[in-house]
Amino acid sequence: MRRILVTGANKGIGAAIAERILEEADDTFVFLGSRDADRGNAAAERLRQAAEDRTDRIQVVDIDVASDASVHESARKVGDLCEGEKLYAIVNNAGIGLGKEALSTVLNVNTRGVERVCRAFIPLLTDGGRIVNITSASGPNFVSTCSMERQSFFKNSAVTWDEIDALMEECVALEGDAKAFETHGLGDGSPYGLSKACTNALTLHLAREFPEFVVNACTPGFIATDLTRAFEIESGRTPEELGMKSPREGANTPIFLLFGRPEGSGHFYGSDAQRSPLDRYREPGSPPYTGE
Ligand SMILES: NC(=O)c1ccc[n+]([C@@H]2O[C@H](COP(=O)([O-])OP(=O)(O)OC[C@H]3O[C@@H](n4cnc5c(N)ncnc54)[C@H](OP(=O)(O)O)[C@@H]3O)[C@@H](O)[C@H]2O)c1
Repeated sequence: MRRILVTGANKGIGAAIAERILEEADDTFVFLGSRDADRGNAAAERLRQAAEDRTDRIQVVDIDVASDASVHESARKVGDLCEGEKLYAIVNNAGIGLGKEALSTVLNVNTRGVERVCRAFIPLLTDGGRIVNITSASGPNFVSTCSMERQSFFKNSAVTWDEIDALMEECVALEGDAKAFETHGLGDGSPYGLSKACTNALTLHLAREFPEFVVNACTPGFIATDLTRAFEIESGRTPEELGMKSPREGANTPIFLLFGRPEGSGHFYGSDAQRSPLDRYREPGSPPYTGE
């Protein structure tokens, strides 16, 4: 069995990734991560009802990626359930940050949460296993507004977790002062874009630290989910009019990074499953990025 953990899989893109994993092959098994047991069980039930062959290939796992205790406990439970077998992959999908959340809150889920899950679950991951970080085009968009020095930081494949941690602390200290972010070469300090740029940098770090795994990040595209609902409400337009795609389409690149043949490790992919740069937006359908 190829056992795969998906965090934040009770709805949206995470639920679609879980469903596509189960459809991909009958040797797949999903640990469906949810921070709320009822929402996780409801999502698992929907998936089980959609096809009979899935009944025994889903296990709900309570996991709040913002909490050390929750992540450790869920890793312990998953380890027990694996009975000595290994995980094939970890999909870090849980995310927040398009509302009015504090920067520290957004970073604690979108960046520290990914690091926390990797630290706890990597001992369970098989050699050659995959780590897929769902970041966003907001990461490269954010980096493009930074000073050249900061851009170099976000693209540096030798970056360490301590350096990413220090940058996040620096940014939290500047919170609420847009001018200070600009002066420090950190664009507008947008919490969401900043967190996703940091998680792309974390992807570089993980790829270097763990050459035995295939570690990549991607944007799912602009997808109609609860995260982006405010765009619909504020604009009074439909997801189609806004150019949004479905969660199922948002799962395309994550599924490619899980089961396809991505080019190496430590890269960022666009929603068209092509490599994209870390410091500027690449339009899906345009030539793939070929740099380091
Ligand atoms: N939608 C887009 O256009 C878009 C574009 C680029 C990137 N993304 C990224 O795609 C990922 C999925 O987003 P989505 O659009 O599917 O959003 P969504 O529908 O709001 O789903 C987010 C998921 O993350 C979970 N989550 C939030 N905080 C968590 C925590 N502390 N611990 C565990 N789970 C947590 C949520 O659980 P609850 O139900 O309990 O809240 C939910 O399952 C995110 O990383 C997002 O940044 C989305």
